[in-house]
Amino acid sequence: MATGTTLSSAFPLGSRLNERGVLEIGGCDTLELAREFGTPAYVVAEEDLRTRARAFLDAGRASGQLDLQVVFASKAFPCTAVLALFAAEGLWCDVASGGELHLALGAGFAPERIVMHGNAKSEAELRMALRHRVGTIVIDNFDELERLRGLVADGALGDRGPDGQPVLIRVNPDVSGDTHEKISTGQADSKFGFSMADVERAIERVGGSPGLALRGLHAHIGSQLLALEPFARAAAGLAAMGAFTTLDVGGGLGVRYTEDQPAPPAIEDYVGTLVKGVRDGGFPAEGRLLIEPGRALCANAGATLYTVETVKQNVSRWVAVDGGMSDNLRPMLYGAGYQAEIVDRFGGSTECVLAGKHCESGDVIVRRALLEDPRPGDVVVTPATGAYGFAMANNYNGVPRPPVIFCRDGDARVVVRRESLEDLTARDVG
Ligand code: LLP
Repeated sequence: MATGTTLSSAFPLGSRLNERGVLEIGGCDTLELAREFGTPAYVVAEEDLRTRARAFLDAGRASGQLDLQVVFASKAFPCTAVLALFAAEGLWCDVASGGELHLALGAGFAPERIVMHGNAKSEAELRMALRHRVGTIVIDNFDELERLRGLVADGALGDRGPDGQPVLIRVNPDVSGDTHEKISTGQADSKFGFSMADVERAIERVGGSPGLALRGLHAHIGSQLLALEPFARAAAGLAAMGAFTTLDVGGGLGVRYTEDQPAPPAIEDYVGTLVKGVRDGGFPAEGRLLIEPGRALCANAGATLYTVETVKQNVSRWVAVDGGMSDNLRPMLYGAGYQAEIVDRFGGSTECVLAGKHCESGDVIVRRALLEDPRPGDVVVTPATGAYGFAMANNYNGVPRPPVIFCRDGDARVVVRRESLEDLTARDVG
């Protein structure tokens, strides 16, 4: 296909086909990246991450909400370089475990900008959050609330001032959007948050807890949502539940994975909808509004490069690559659709199944990929793997996890090295 082809917006911002017809990401030739760093590899356009962070911040400033903070849901891409970039851009950080808290602190987020989530926080994790003085703990259930009260009574707050630990209460608003059931969280029968029937009791209990400062409520209705209406409904509902100084409306804005998928709402429209929602529910313009995008900040910044190992024809044409469900679990977990291209022969028409190398028939990355005469040695790209790819990577079949390569203005640097075979045995003790 000719140079100058417009790439789908699933690809990182600034991607293009160069004069030789080869995909460039962040100004770097992807064939050269594959040669230099090997495959599979997560390639990330640094400018894309920055541009989207700034789009959220600008949208917040334009929204009329005077104290709106963009809290990166670190589970989407829990990699120090990504976290450090977002910290430098002025974002806050959502962590959902002691491990994510460790990563966020290590990457440079100020503790007061960290929001701690989790539906099964351990005593050790709560202690760690208190010790590091995280800005906000989001209480999910009564057991956690009692655990936290106990720790405070034991002196775990240390010399923290009279205000104590700021907390939010996670509410399950019984609002769900149209998404895969495994990533829908706001329905009544969910493992997350206090049910509507329990919220009042939770508010009273936290209110009467010395050392805990109730600042407001939180809700997260689900992920990869492409319609704005459920967000508006949940935001307004949350705001109407009481007069608080802080509301946290979670994340969930969907992204584009493939060309034929409907375009997601623009970041400004999403932020505008959330702000209008809380204001409709009576939340004041001076109130602190936290929003927690994960996927929308990083999915499209990343793409995965693979090398074709084998091609075989039976009922289908099977194109097997050197990665698969160990670097991208989403097709298997959610039936998620991706697009694939050969990096130097875009726009093919041969219908293929792009399969992984793992010992499972379900290890298919793209069920219906249109490729141009795929052959062993070809480098294939799947865009939109920046969110929840690295995050959910694993070592199935003893496959080492890929490196993360940041690309910017034609320069590439490894920010996470490829896992080695020695890494696979590094934890063995006997
Ligand atoms: N805030 C909370 C409390 C969350 O639980 C999540 C995601 C987010 C924010 C960020 O959601 P996002 O903006 O990324 O949609 N592994 C799944 C996604 C699970 C999301 C879990 N919670 C996937 O690959 O699609």
